Amino acid sequence: MSALPIDNKLMLDGIEIAFEPGDTILEAATRAHRYIPHLCWHPEFGAHGSCRLCTVKVNGRSAAACTTRATPGAEVQSHTDELDAGRKTLLQMLFVEGNHFCPSCEKSGNCLLQATAYEMGMEGPHFEEFYPDRPLDASHPELLLDTNRCILCGLCVRASHAEGKDVFAIGGHGLKTRLLIAGASGRLGDSGLSASDRAASICPVGAILPKRRGFAVPIGARRYDLASAAEEIEGPAVEGGAP
Ligand code: SF4
Ligand code: FES
Repeated sequence: MSALPIDNKLMLDGIEIAFEPGDTILEAATRAHRYIPHLCWHPEFGAHGSCRLCTVKVNGRSAAACTTRATPGAEVQSHTDELDAGRKTLLQMLFVEGNHFCPSCEKSGNCLLQATAYEMGMEGPHFEEFYPDRPLDASHPELLLDTNRCILCGLCVRASHAEGKDVFAIGGHGLKTRLLIAGASGRLGDSGLSASDRAASICPVGAILPKRRGFAVPIGARRYDLASAAEEIEGPAVEGGAP
């Protein structure tokens, strides 16, 4: 019989990891260099709990790792065939709900959506594409907003709120949920967003981009070309090691 972990330790996929008081499961996993897929979570900001990519089983029950507190002795499963299949389906739905054309996107290779799709072995959209009619806002002198690529993660909303500007909000319901810009015109150029704001650089996909900096880093030398989403947290896979 294995001994129950005590104090601030839990079991993640059969491996004991330590956590700090107040940690969520995702924070504890990241601190322990264990990758749990996520899109709407970022270590700089509070959890949003909207993408559900981080869904794990905690003592047999489904829970979002980014919003669920780590508790002593918890048994957490993350990398199971069932959970990874669910993540792949969520990713496929995100791809078909927006307009994501990776080969022509400036964010390709730096995009967390794309990197996570690779991580989950997604080879195609599976579902029929919606091809929604979404606006592109080029009104800002330094920034481009392409809502075709927005996955509604809310990171720009939280970043702008933390900066005291509240430039962004998410409104609407279901398929009509949209990223909104504060102000009468609803245009980025009339908002208080500055290119140096954290909200302008936090977007994990290619929805908010600086102008006039296209392909400054060549494909092949970009963030996720150098280390996959999992490797960024866990370190490079050891050749010949466990799969
Ligand atoms: Fe997230 Fe980017 Fe959409 Fe903002 S614009 S909600 S950061 S995907
Ligand atoms: Fe947990 Fe998005 S990372 S719900």
